[in-house]
Amino acid sequence: MSEKFLSRRKVLQAGLVSGVSLSVSTACASETPKTVTPRQTSGPFYPIVEQADKDADLTVVGNSPDIALGDIVTVEGGVYGDDGSPIADAVVDIWQANAAGRYAHETDRNQAPLDPNFQGWAILKTDANGRYRFKTVKPGAYPAASGWDRPPHIHFKVSRRGYHEITTQMYFENEPLNDVDLILKALSEPEQISVIATRNEVSGAFSFEIVLRKV
Ligand SMILES: [Fe+2]
Repeated sequence: MSEKFLSRRKVLQAGLVSGVSLSVSTACASETPKTVTPRQTSGPFYPIVEQADKDADLTVVGNSPDIALGDIVTVEGGVYGDDGSPIADAVVDIWQANAAGRYAHETDRNQAPLDPNFQGWAILKTDANGRYRFKTVKPGAYPAASGWDRPPHIHFKVSRRGYHEITTQMYFENEPLNDVDLILKALSEPEQISVIATRNEVSGAFSFEIVLRKV
């Protein structure tokens, strides 16, 4: 279901506006991931125009000397099976809005400006230890519907032969919009914690660990 077209009726049917607020913005993800990463909507903005540069540095397009606007962040983590074993050569396909909250997608009607220096999309592979890492800008919040602003998030599609593919979204800790987001709040509390990236105090990188269920 598209995040932009999730109707109020569906929201009510799903009991997502029960008024019970579960605050997980300050919760910390476990070092060893245990929760199978939940599926979340892919939204309407998966890239449809092929682009040459889909590498792990989203802050630069091609060989341009210019860099993307916004706060530069590193996101890193591992992809694991539900038995805890790291998954090498998993495909980690990521896409996101720029720092102003705008996707480089023809159907995004947000009036926020595009950033020609922001790559917006990357396709990575995990290394022999199941790890991935990329450099990007923190995405801006953006309006999804009247009265509903999506918190900063990055979309992930993760796949590997022998495991169930997932499409999901990663959030950033300590974002007030996390506590009122209809998509994030639809998950169980452990699932919410599992998709909110925490900042490593030593490296400064945001950590997002992903667990796939074996076929
Ligand atoms: Fe989105």
